[in-house]
Amino acid sequence: MQTIGLAVIGAGYWGPNLVRNAQATPGLRLRYLCDLDADRARRVLGEYSTVRVSDSLDEVLADPEVHAVAIATPAKTHLPVAMAALEAGKHVLVEKPLAATHAEGAALVRAAEERGLTLMLDHTYCYTPAVAHLRELVHSGGIGSVQYLDSVRINLGLVQPDVDVLWDLAPHDLSIFLSILPEGVRPLAVAAHGSDPIGAGRACVAHLTIELTGGAMAHVHVNWLSPTKIRTMVIGGSQRTVVWDDLNPSQRLSVYDRGVDRAGAAELGEEKREQTIVSYRTGDMVAPALPEKEALRAVMAEFHAAITEGRPPLTDGRSGLRVLAILEAASASLAQGGAFLPILDSEDVAGSENAAAPEGALL
Ligand SMILES: NC(=O)c1ccc[n+]([C@@H]2O[C@H](COP(=O)([O-])OP(=O)(O)OC[C@H]3O[C@@H](n4cnc5c(N)ncnc54)[C@H](O)[C@@H]3O)[C@@H](O)[C@H]2O)c1
Repeated sequence: MQTIGLAVIGAGYWGPNLVRNAQATPGLRLRYLCDLDADRARRVLGEYSTVRVSDSLDEVLADPEVHAVAIATPAKTHLPVAMAALEAGKHVLVEKPLAATHAEGAALVRAAEERGLTLMLDHTYCYTPAVAHLRELVHSGGIGSVQYLDSVRINLGLVQPDVDVLWDLAPHDLSIFLSILPEGVRPLAVAAHGSDPIGAGRACVAHLTIELTGGAMAHVHVNWLSPTKIRTMVIGGSQRTVVWDDLNPSQRLSVYDRGVDRAGAAELGEEKREQTIVSYRTGDMVAPALPEKEALRAVMAEFHAAITEGRPPLTDGRSGLRVLAILEAASASLAQGGAFLPILDSEDVAGSENAAAPEGALL
């Protein structure tokens, strides 16, 4: 197995999780932990570690034994840190969100593609057994056609200094949606509403409503102020509905063969729609057995595999751009009082070079 020398950049809240999982991943050799605050990095590694500590990104990038970096610094620094790494010829794993604006994210995707380097997003949830099962269920037609998605991600969260709650938490929900939606179903427009009841200077509570092709609707509620923690997602289909409760390890997924059908619609015609009969299906509920695996371990394994096999990772730079396109339209909607706004074609990597960031995208 080819060994990839890795440096983790950022030793704050999330960086130590990257360190722990990198060290447990065959084929990855952690060479540096880099943070502007070298003492913080030293504390993370402990006294006896042979991993080097540095407060200089330049020093790390100049080391030919570093082939790749994993970046866990604040969102506004992703562009300069990731761009410096790509320009030094290193593969990059970057935390969500890819960058502070779609234009910045597009610049990173271009830089990686031009150099033939791996650019991967840590969209952590996409690597959970629950999302893998959901993806398979939805793509195989196991729930019928998708009618709605509803995601709630609330708890007493860290009020972030540089991003609002949408940019902090909704990347999880949006990356999950994009990962499980079937081919041909994509987000068209988004409306966002938010509030800042504690005067933090940014939305601490937010609701997103997303129109999807085919008339389906997705909803996201993210909130830093809730005393109770809730992590649920409901995916309603024409044949089955899945409820995902991520805080219930013994039954994370419940697949209900229950729902509502409209009988007689075809025979009566649309003009007599009110005469159609609504019938309720009350079939079984199945709770699939899922392996318990730490998602970040799979993230690290995928990063190594993508680099050594020379293929795009499951969550490549373009998947990060698709999330940024929704977030940017959502920020613009928030600034305009919640109007539905179209979601730009996120694949337009070249065209978005000079796009201005909408007001409120980054604080
Ligand atoms: N995937 C997930 O589930 C998940 C969870 C939490 C956070 N995150 C993401 O991780 C990233 C970091 O978040 P956090 O909560 O750990 O932030 P944090 O503020 O706790 O830590 C950031 C660290 O980066 C260091 N840093 C800043 N600029 C640097 C630079 N140029 N070079 C070296 N070090 C630098 C800071 O000194 C700090 O120690 C964010 O993008 C966040 O969205 C992801």
